[in-house]
Amino acid sequence: MNNVVLIGFMGSGKSSVGKVLADKLERNFIDMDDEIEVGEKKSINEIFDEYGEEHFRELETSYLEKLLTKKNKVIATGGGVVLKEENISILKRIGTVVFLHTPFEQLLRNLQDDTERPLLKDVDHETTIKNLLNLREPIYFEASNMIIQTKDKSVEEIADEIVSLL
Ligand code: S3P
Repeated sequence: MNNVVLIGFMGSGKSSVGKVLADKLERNFIDMDDEIEVGEKKSINEIFDEYGEEHFRELETSYLEKLLTKKNKVIATGGGVVLKEENISILKRIGTVVFLHTPFEQLLRNLQDDTERPLLKDVDHETTIKNLLNLREPIYFEASNMIIQTKDKSVEEIADEIVSLL
């Protein structure tokens, strides 16, 4: 079977769903942010702090390209991976792209107390999430082969729904 690639906004549950989904499908799970952190020997925060977002985006593309050789994996991506157009065609070549569609209110709840994500550091979470979501949501729709509504669903339910649609 094809790779399954999860896309969606920060806080939409890509990593949690990805782990459960990988278990259900008996596949390995790859978290792109973790791959970048291990490969670069720096946290995402350090990469943003030391080299800036643009550099992170370039790393994202090069780590994404490495995934083209993988098979039978479940892959969780970072929320901004769809920002570069070239990444979208790479994503589609890697596998079935599944968009976890989470409403703004739920994202805000999930990200309210976040101190880890560089894009949410020292900014008003509500305004930033709203602005980024307005910009990105149409791109997630466009980039995906499958859309899963996550509202009021558990990680388990979301993973089951993906399995039933694959
Ligand atoms: C980002 C999302 C993060 C991480 C980085 C940038 C984004 O991943 O890649 O902080 O631009 O939305 P998650 O979606 O796993 O939080």
